[in-house]
Amino acid sequence: MTQQANEEPGTPRGDLAGKHIVLGLSGGIACYKAAELCRALIKQGATVQVVMTEAAEQFITAVTLQALSGRPVFTSQWDSRPAGGIDNSMAHINLSREADAILIAPCSADFMAKLLHGRADDLLSLMCLARPLATVPLLIAPAMNREMWAHPATQRNMAQLQADGATILGVGSGFQACGETGDGRMLEPPELLEDIIAFFTPKVLAGQNVLVTAGPTYEAMDPVRGITNLSSGKMGFAVARAAHEAGAEVTLVAGPVSLQTPRGVTRVDVKSAQNMLEAVTGRAQTATIFIATAAVADWRPASSQERKIKKDGTGQMPTLTFTENPDILATLAQSARAQSGALFCVGFAAESHDLEDNAQAKRLRKGVPLLVGNIGPATFGRDDNVLLLVDAHGSRELARASKLTLARQLVGEIAGRLKRAG
Ligand code: C5P
Repeated sequence: MTQQANEEPGTPRGDLAGKHIVLGLSGGIACYKAAELCRALIKQGATVQVVMTEAAEQFITAVTLQALSGRPVFTSQWDSRPAGGIDNSMAHINLSREADAILIAPCSADFMAKLLHGRADDLLSLMCLARPLATVPLLIAPAMNREMWAHPATQRNMAQLQADGATILGVGSGFQACGETGDGRMLEPPELLEDIIAFFTPKVLAGQNVLVTAGPTYEAMDPVRGITNLSSGKMGFAVARAAHEAGAEVTLVAGPVSLQTPRGVTRVDVKSAQNMLEAVTGRAQTATIFIATAAVADWRPASSQERKIKKDGTGQMPTLTFTENPDILATLAQSARAQSGALFCVGFAAESHDLEDNAQAKRLRKGVPLLVGNIGPATFGRDDNVLLLVDAHGSRELARASKLTLARQLVGEIAGRLKRAG
């Protein structure tokens, strides 16, 4: 990505640019993940102030986190060094005043219990209690053994912490350092990062139910062959992530691609265009926005053979006949919900030339209020793209950027249109 012309050189970039995060570590083996998390936050443009409990220092050293964060680490309420630029020996006050959030990762079962009771006998808990509730949110990434996590006391504490305004970032499931398998692991740093970025995103699609199609479809000729389209699915997955970040409930109906499901998004895997239509038809009854990014095959073999079609040695080619696939977008755009304005439909068009004319013609043919054009060969498989938004009033280009950046801009455009309409 290139630096925008109107930005000062050296302006921090990244999804957390300008955010100041106090990263608190309580005691637990997941402290080793906090080092990577600290680095990931900084890579996304945040500044990070690390605060550790005495127990956390048993698992990882302050030196490591100082090196990664580029700031001295605070571990004691009796530390009299200036904090947050103020020299009054009150680190618990000064460190939280400049924070955009306090993130406790890992948060042990004991530390959760402590927070719940408002105890304040170490710097980190003292700081959480002393933080301005209205302006400094508390994010918690629990980490503990599965039995500790499942214990009614922990579950009760978690519910009460949420009721008190804290955001629990969830736990992962799987093999634990203790040798047991189950829920309670701290989420991986990339997962936490995705959740933190989503936390800070304005919720312009709150209350919306978004249905997205993505990837290609695969139309089988026989058990080992088929026809498909070129599509990595990256744009659709980015759209699903951006819609979730913006506060929507998101269902992603994906053709055969090997991409990671965005956090918080419900994924339904399908193969053929017919499977895709079946998957969206019912879900469109409750969706309020439908975004069709999938590269649906226009045709499918008229019949799919149960056994592999063999060369018979005569040099004779098999004759294939095709049937047209349903147009999923056009079908949904004609539905009663779309016609009544309850379902806002957005299409994509991959063209090779005359983008604006072709996109506008396609928009009218499909009957959608907004169509997003892009040049196919310039986007397939890439992480960046250029989009052309085409609606009844004309067109507008979204300049080259990462697909995620463009997806976020598109979500903003859709939210703006819904607001004006409604
Ligand atoms: O007609 P074309 O494939 O170029 O149209 C592209 C748009 O229509 C995309 O939004 C695509 O997801 C959608 N589409 C569809 N079902 C089809 C063909 C295209 O939903 N059978």
